[in-house]
Amino acid sequence: MSGNSPDEYLNKNRGKLFHPPDSFTKTTRLNDDSLYRKAKQDRLSFWSEMAENLHWVEKWDQLLDDANPPYYKWFVNGKLNISENCLDVHINNGLGDKKALVFEGENGDSVSLTYSQLLKEVCKFSSALNKLGVKKGDAVTIWMPMIPESIVAMLACTRIGAVHSVVFGGFSPDALKDRILDSESKVVVTADGSYRRGKVIPLRSAAEEALDECPSVENVVIVKRTGNDFKLKEGRDLLWSELMETAEDPFDPVVMDAEDPLFILYSSGTTGKPKGILHTTGGYLVGVKTTFQYVFDHREDDIYWCTADIGWITGHSYIVYGPLSNGSSTFIYEGTPDYPERDRFWELIEKYRITVFYTAPTAIRSFMRWGNHYVDKHDISSLRLLGSVGEPINPEAWLWYYEQIGKSNCPIVDTWWQTETGMTILTPLPGVTPLKPGSVTMPFPGVEVDVVDDDGKSTGPGQKGFLVIKSPWPAMLRNLYGDPERFEKTYWEQYPGLYFTGDGAWKDNDGYFWIMGRVDDVLNISGHRIGTMEVESALVEHPSAAEAAVIGKADEIKGQSITAFVTLKEGVEGNDELVQELKKHVSKKIGAIARPQEIFFTYELPKTRSGKIMRRLLRDIAEQRDLGDVTTLMDPQVIASIKEGYGAKH
Ligand code: WTA
Repeated sequence: MSGNSPDEYLNKNRGKLFHPPDSFTKTTRLNDDSLYRKAKQDRLSFWSEMAENLHWVEKWDQLLDDANPPYYKWFVNGKLNISENCLDVHINNGLGDKKALVFEGENGDSVSLTYSQLLKEVCKFSSALNKLGVKKGDAVTIWMPMIPESIVAMLACTRIGAVHSVVFGGFSPDALKDRILDSESKVVVTADGSYRRGKVIPLRSAAEEALDECPSVENVVIVKRTGNDFKLKEGRDLLWSELMETAEDPFDPVVMDAEDPLFILYSSGTTGKPKGILHTTGGYLVGVKTTFQYVFDHREDDIYWCTADIGWITGHSYIVYGPLSNGSSTFIYEGTPDYPERDRFWELIEKYRITVFYTAPTAIRSFMRWGNHYVDKHDISSLRLLGSVGEPINPEAWLWYYEQIGKSNCPIVDTWWQTETGMTILTPLPGVTPLKPGSVTMPFPGVEVDVVDDDGKSTGPGQKGFLVIKSPWPAMLRNLYGDPERFEKTYWEQYPGLYFTGDGAWKDNDGYFWIMGRVDDVLNISGHRIGTMEVESALVEHPSAAEAAVIGKADEIKGQSITAFVTLKEGVEGNDELVQELKKHVSKKIGAIARPQEIFFTYELPKTRSGKIMRRLLRDIAEQRDLGDVTTLMDPQVIASIKEGYGAKH
């Protein structure tokens, strides 16, 4: 565990409270504790009232069915359509000409779509999918760059009731294949490539073999983004532009049940196989619409920018569904913050007059290191609210963000949540909650959270424990696709009746929550979740590797970086060339984000007498800490040898 520990906090005495700045509270949507009070009085009627803000084709007849835990149902028998709530509803309210989506490509090309224009595109792609035979309940995989078509494809799926599975564009074709096979997708939507740091990253051509090995895939739809060459496979591959030419508009939204599946999003867990986290329609939209509205203080004239990728939950909930269901203008950018120069983000904020900016601590730490002069070149005074997500933010980075980017005029909403929770769970309300740098403050109204000890008992102030959610919430995951057993075991068996988050945390005397990071074998690399076992399985698939143990080593910028300890097969010599080859192999199997920073060869891994690999010891070696008791090891000699080998390289 890393993150903000009680000792660190107390030592640094960062107890200072940051109240919402006057300039902010003057215009905020909420500046009193009425929402907290309302939710406290009656949690369920609070959610019922929030749900009234959606357009329902038929109202629910039961708010929450908790008869069969952990299989909770929300808004039972309610009927609605997500794309209708994100598009048609606003057009009917006179917002047809308002910008829904503003896009800038890495090369500076720019497109914006009004709500009417976005609806038209979505209808056309819905009709195209319909003609390809995609029906309600079918799975569609989306493997795309950050371009408007990606969002059109997601919304079109929701319009016809197809279940989308968005796979992060940075995942490798092999990882894409695993996810297509697991979801049994009929259609894959992708692009010829994307622009990144001045280069074209190929997508469709790179996935040639992977796609051929997916028997469920009947059609692949390809957006031409870069002009990168690829071979159209006759009878299967179709060009987005051609399909859209003959597609029909309008296209009526399909009426969905509140509990109909909305999407699957694969995320890392503690085994080698990613989990297909399943979200459903009604509760998810109620959760993300409500949290977006209050956490990001939605205002009619906002230009909102969340820098995540649509391949992650943050992109789903707070680039697409949260902003659009509120009628906001959501900005997306294709490239990275350091290309062509390290002031790219500030340049974009100035150009588009961005008002709300939501990013990750790893990015903030990079900006900090690059220096204030990149920021000072630009007028970023349009900003009024900042957000942080994905990993614990250290107080230093928090203060820098507050002072240098927010100019001490913008509250920071540090939001703790997960792919599983669908919506923010621990977060300030920016016009209400006094902030403490490094703390995610308190539960969103209507959500019940606690920190518990090994026995599931609530811990006292300053006592470290495990973060749990005590009662169901609307946007909660409903299952793991095709694996209910793993769903029950991972989240619900640790502490009966409580949802186990996998994070360590503590509360302070004021009841503020402080997140310490994962307590399981999940790594957090630059805010991206990667399972140690996933990387280990990728390593041992290489013909030279016998066994592997992967750990997350504390890293100043990325939060954690990947270190792998590998034992080789008999007769194989471990040299620098093999290190490079193994790193490349992991990139191929998973994607560049999972590429180990360092790989060490060892003749044996430290194991308990029952054969369990002691990753904790490896972490201690990598972070150069005292090892403590190693007597339970099968072969204590192993540790000495690894320590010596590792030490020699550092
Ligand atoms: C971590 C991302 C500290 C946490 C939305 C969680 C955070 C995991 C924060 C989920 C935060 C997310 N402070 N840690 N504000 N937000 N995390 O599923 O360990 O990609 O369990 O969802 O990220 O990652 P996921």
